[in-house]
Amino acid sequence: MPSHPLEPFRIKTVEPINRIDRLARQQALESAGYNLFGLRSDDIFIDLLTDSGTGAMSDRQWGAMMQGDESYAGARSYFELKESVETIFGFKHLIPTHQGRAAEHILSTLLIKPGFSIPSNTHFDTTEANIRARGGKPVNLVIDDAADPSLPHPFKGNMDIDKLEAFIAETGRENVPFGMITITNNATGGQPVSLENIRQTADTYKKYEIPFIIDACRYAENAYFIKLREPGYAGKTPLEIAQEIFSLADGATMSAKKDALVNIGGFLVLNDDDLAQRAKNELILREGFPTYGGLAGRDLSAIAVGLWEGLDEGYLAYRLGQTAFLTESIEAHGIPVVLPPGGHAVYIDAGNLLAHIPRNEFPGQALAVELYLEGGIRGVELGSVAFAYTDPQTGEEHFPLMELVRLAIPRRMYTETHLDFVAEALGRIAERRDEIHGYRFTYAPELLRHFTAQFEPVE
Ligand SMILES: Cc1ncc(COP(=O)(O)O)c(C=O)c1O
Repeated sequence: MPSHPLEPFRIKTVEPINRIDRLARQQALESAGYNLFGLRSDDIFIDLLTDSGTGAMSDRQWGAMMQGDESYAGARSYFELKESVETIFGFKHLIPTHQGRAAEHILSTLLIKPGFSIPSNTHFDTTEANIRARGGKPVNLVIDDAADPSLPHPFKGNMDIDKLEAFIAETGRENVPFGMITITNNATGGQPVSLENIRQTADTYKKYEIPFIIDACRYAENAYFIKLREPGYAGKTPLEIAQEIFSLADGATMSAKKDALVNIGGFLVLNDDDLAQRAKNELILREGFPTYGGLAGRDLSAIAVGLWEGLDEGYLAYRLGQTAFLTESIEAHGIPVVLPPGGHAVYIDAGNLLAHIPRNEFPGQALAVELYLEGGIRGVELGSVAFAYTDPQTGEEHFPLMELVRLAIPRRMYTETHLDFVAEALGRIAERRDEIHGYRFTYAPELLRHFTAQFEPVE
């Protein structure tokens, strides 16, 4: 019996949700070209597409929004955010952006030239796309254990340090303008990275004088995993652990839509004065003046408060508790999931559940479509639709490690009953798995294809 996550809040505002019938769901799917991104949210009962910007803000955040300062330059809201960021992240320069990918874009524009390579444990899709868009090559060097969904490694998001060393030696330091690590490692199951591994990664980059940038979207969840699982950290607060993590790096990109508990926002933080100045010039060109960077003042104020709420231990215990609860409830139906449970989402091993569907007919997409048909539940494929690509030089097709469906849990949004409903719908699908067929593209763009691709069923 999964243990029950205790909500450290009570509900002050509610939002009704619709439950359209199966025939209407089938019609909605057809008109969306079987791409769940193409659905209207009114046609969805439980939306687990993403935890990004979809969570509930607190009364304190809404209060801070009412007091946002909308001055074009020097707004009070910017200084509120600066204070929170300086305390938690500790970098010298704060460059607010409208979301995480804008920070990635600025960094990629300034530092990547065609032929350069950027290593990470595993890049997320927007980071990969921003690197490729500049002619660079994203390189994923996660530990081999990450490829085994059933292996209960405590820090399955870790970088393989030997692979990183070998990669830099082979590629040449001059072709690696910066190196990254993603915490938690979203693309391999929301899996955490240990502090020891972050330190070894930092040491390796330092040895070659490669600037170290952390993709920090879910740093608070990662810090709490460290507290729970890494020897020597049980007595530290998530804040102290976060401060230790960031003290090892030269900068970070942040999507505030995750662990800062807001609906929009992000930032780039850097120590290097010259790089930060160039980033600000780039920001002015595309996002806005450096004290607001594409956001309203009230958004900055909400992030300033949300960063602290995201580090609260009661909240983090509930947050990781919900993910563990859904993972265990799904597993109880005999459905293979990535173990141990990650931070923000449950990852179903669709390649295993629907082993009769070949990878080029997208078992993950088939499962995601079926889950919507069965229960009006929206998840997202994170397998070959999202990550397979053809190497432009060799023409060779590359597949990702796993064919996953991610059910991301928005923060402070759904109750345990909603999560039970999801697990039961999956249980019914598993019983009739042999009847489920694959899909083929009728349209696919070159970059970030899962957002807008269109499909048809393979009969
Ligand atoms: C690990 C990771 N990095 C970067 C991003 C991009 O952030 P944003 O959606 O705010 O552009 C995401 C978003 O899901 C993410 O999960």
